[in-house]
Amino acid sequence: MGFISDSLNRIQPSATIAISNKAMQLKAEGRDVIGLAAGEPDFDTPRNIKDAAIRAIEAGKTKYTAVDGIPELKKAICDKFRRENGLDYKPAQVSVGSGGKQVLFNALLATVNPGDEVIVPTPYWVSYPDIVMLAGGTPVFVAGSLAHGFKLQAADLEKAITPRTKWLILNSPSNPSGAAYSEAELKALTDVLLRHPHVWVLTDDMYEHLVYDDFRFTTPAQVEPRLYERTLTMNGVSKSYCMTGWRIGYAAGPEMLIKAMAKLQSQSTSNPSSISQWAAVEALNGPQDFIAANNKVFKQRRDLVVAMLNQARGITCPVPEGAFYVYPSCQGVIGKTAPSGNPIRTDEDFVTELLAAEGVAAVHGAAFGMSPFFRISYATATEVLEDACKRIQRFCGNLR
Ligand SMILES: Cc1ncc(COP(=O)(O)O)c(C=O)c1O
Repeated sequence: MGFISDSLNRIQPSATIAISNKAMQLKAEGRDVIGLAAGEPDFDTPRNIKDAAIRAIEAGKTKYTAVDGIPELKKAICDKFRRENGLDYKPAQVSVGSGGKQVLFNALLATVNPGDEVIVPTPYWVSYPDIVMLAGGTPVFVAGSLAHGFKLQAADLEKAITPRTKWLILNSPSNPSGAAYSEAELKALTDVLLRHPHVWVLTDDMYEHLVYDDFRFTTPAQVEPRLYERTLTMNGVSKSYCMTGWRIGYAAGPEMLIKAMAKLQSQSTSNPSSISQWAAVEALNGPQDFIAANNKVFKQRRDLVVAMLNQARGITCPVPEGAFYVYPSCQGVIGKTAPSGNPIRTDEDFVTELLAAEGVAAVHGAAFGMSPFFRISYATATEVLEDACKRIQRFCGNLR
């Protein structure tokens, strides 16, 4: 019998964090490495948000808080849902955790029993299947396709539902593909769910504000109010407000579930950082105009990266609706040989050889459950992205 628990042995460390760490390590060793693996904006946290945190420190707001959020933050979150999503939640229906990841973790650990199934469309954010498995549940993968813009299709959802299905996890805009569901596309899925009253929806709206080309963001409980009673709407300040290090995420849903999540959090981290919570109050209540300014830059970078990758031999890069990722296919380079003499049989071989030959760190599609693809984060300075894309073009051109 091993010392490490069976439940921990069921899961893998986060592949994206592992690759980002490897890129940082190579950089520290003096290698010329461009890291495009990390999922965080390169923009600084806005000044007014930092100031709110400093004020909180000075005012002595440095003690334990209520387990799942201070009343001021819960109110700001309720106001945000009403203002931006047309959703009515009471503070008792809101849970705040140390990042969106903890909120997700709480929701799944609080509800999933061994044998329960959770539908996870591919490509997926790396943590969903592992958290489900840690809880003892079974992730049920539904394969996406390039032809459908990486979006779950209603017929495929219908086929995946069984009497054991507990949750459907939706993530729009998506990490890793950047794909975002239009209202009509979401409606097709919510229509299926109406026929299966035992299935709940966990919608990860973390990239809500990061959409381009006049795309209009919507979320399942807004599109189909009849699902309100079985939807957990998750969001956070990490990405839109450039606050990844502050660790604040939140969700709203039925009070019974929110209470269960608080019970779990009360026995793990107690409460999210008091200072970060006050910063998040300012993020949600304060000026929002910097989001549009950041998005203008993100859109230019997206267009640059898509255009340059499509010029790389063997790479096909679709145009995503949102987030700050592209998810190109590397089908056209599979079967070729890298400058090192190693064969490229998989997307993992592709990113490994790309890092070795050109010092560009990307994440292989297998980590997100869909191959042969790779993910690039374009939340990096434009000149760096241009350099990285030139290196990818050169690398692909040199494959034999
Ligand atoms: C889709 C998605 N959900 C949740 C998270 C977690 O966000 P946080 O940093 O707030 O824990 C991330 C972060 O990468 C993400 O990409």
